[in-house]
Amino acid sequence: MVAHHPRPALPAAALPVLRLAAELPPAAVGALPTRPGDGDGALPVLLGSPPVDVDGLLAREQAKGEPGEVVSVPVTAPGALERVLLLGTGDGSVEGLRKAGAAAARRAKGAASLAVDLRGLPLDGPGLRALAEGLLLASYGFTVKAAEPRTLTEIVLVGPTQLQADLDAAVVVATAGAAARDLVNTPSLQKSPAWLAAQATDLLRGLTVHVRDEQTLRSQGWGGVVAVGMGSSRPPRVIEVSYDGARKGPHVVLVGKGITFDTGGLSLKPNDGMLTMKMDMGGAAAVLATLRAVADLKLAIRVTALAAVAENMPSGAAQRPGDVITQYGGTTVEVLNTDAEGRLVLADAIAYADTVLEADVIVDIATLTGGLPIALGKRIAGLFATDDDLAEQLLAAGRSCGELLWRLPLVEDYRQALESPIADLRNIGDPKLKLSGGSITAALFLREFAGGRPFAHLDIAGPAWSGADEDELSKGGTGYGVRLLVRWLEGLAG
Ligand code: BES
Ligand code: MN
Ligand code: ZN
Repeated sequence: MVAHHPRPALPAAALPVLRLAAELPPAAVGALPTRPGDGDGALPVLLGSPPVDVDGLLAREQAKGEPGEVVSVPVTAPGALERVLLLGTGDGSVEGLRKAGAAAARRAKGAASLAVDLRGLPLDGPGLRALAEGLLLASYGFTVKAAEPRTLTEIVLVGPTQLQADLDAAVVVATAGAAARDLVNTPSLQKSPAWLAAQATDLLRGLTVHVRDEQTLRSQGWGGVVAVGMGSSRPPRVIEVSYDGARKGPHVVLVGKGITFDTGGLSLKPNDGMLTMKMDMGGAAAVLATLRAVADLKLAIRVTALAAVAENMPSGAAQRPGDVITQYGGTTVEVLNTDAEGRLVLADAIAYADTVLEADVIVDIATLTGGLPIALGKRIAGLFATDDDLAEQLLAAGRSCGELLWRLPLVEDYRQALESPIADLRNIGDPKLKLSGGSITAALFLREFAGGRPFAHLDIAGPAWSGADEDELSKGGTGYGVRLLVRWLEGLAG
């Protein structure tokens, strides 16, 4: 018999060490952010060699200074330095700096060390943070190959040492983002609900972590989590993490969808639809990693994370289309499609956040509907909110951290599609009404459980996974939501 007990995480590449220094250290690769018309001797400072005409070089390469653009200049002078990367930064905005950092890290991959000379570039805190997050996140890689390629181990930023606190914040957030990516990238053979709970306990050492097992979930009435997990030989879990950094102020509850693998259940997906479904716990990974970052940043705020974790499998023990389940708190749901499982596990947790935790604000994050990436593409999450202030706060956090959101409507007219003749709700919109809008009806379904509290739902079915290395994203799990939620909570903490 195959043992399903938790094992240690697969080896993922560690992020490079990132530090600030006043002086240029010996490094294999140097990098210099440039702005058009800026060739005023910065390059010689870095090289310690006779002046080089930076503008001439960039012109010869037909460089436009766009963010992410890199002109690599070989160095023949004696010493460790092999190359200097001239980095386009566009208008020098946070987006430009994030892309420039990411491009530098990618081009320096394979070198042991990278020094980025910022002495010619006046950066503020947000600018440094964006550059640093780009450098670190683009250095992330996940592989279980026996022979690892050489990866960058150290990055030194030469310049504004008074921005140490911003650098520290960037390291905390990027490290949490990498932890979320590791969880998402781990194959589901290893990633059972129990394994995820064990990883969470490990990751969140020092915080209060409470794991409910299947028996507890059954006895406490978490009917959605139990029903979805019922078809799997590996039983479900709910992970509750609390962080109390403030006596007063709002109690924020973050809820993450944690389907460790989504086959669709008896409403089975075709093979192609399952290929990336190990990522269906990306919301859970995001809320868990966010709590790690919130604690490391010692934010003055009260936050609870709930990860609702189950494996959605077809079997003789699985829930059937047409079954009626009772969610946490007593709402009954007619399950007409077992592939609409995310909302069932989330509903329990949202109801618990409302009735037991008495949250002041509830935000869930979930790879919920395949329609979202069709509408918004792979780089933007859908935001649904019952409260305009909350929506605006989240949109602003997204703009500043580079994890973008677009607000979609909770259309009241579509609520009728969730009516069931035999239960309080149905779990998919009634196709007979021909209203479509599956992402919206999913959001309306979740809203039913928030008890009228300020509630936002982030559908990350698109941005949770990247098909390619691009800017700060690496192919695979993106950790989407960590930067966003941390930025939002930083704003709330003031
Ligand atoms: N996990 C999927 C949604 C998904 C699809 C995420 C593609 C990422 C990429 C979710 O559980 C699901 O299966 N949703 C169905 C719902 C439908 C059966 C009502 C969907 O969106 O097709
Ligand atoms: Mn599904
Ligand atoms: Zn799913």
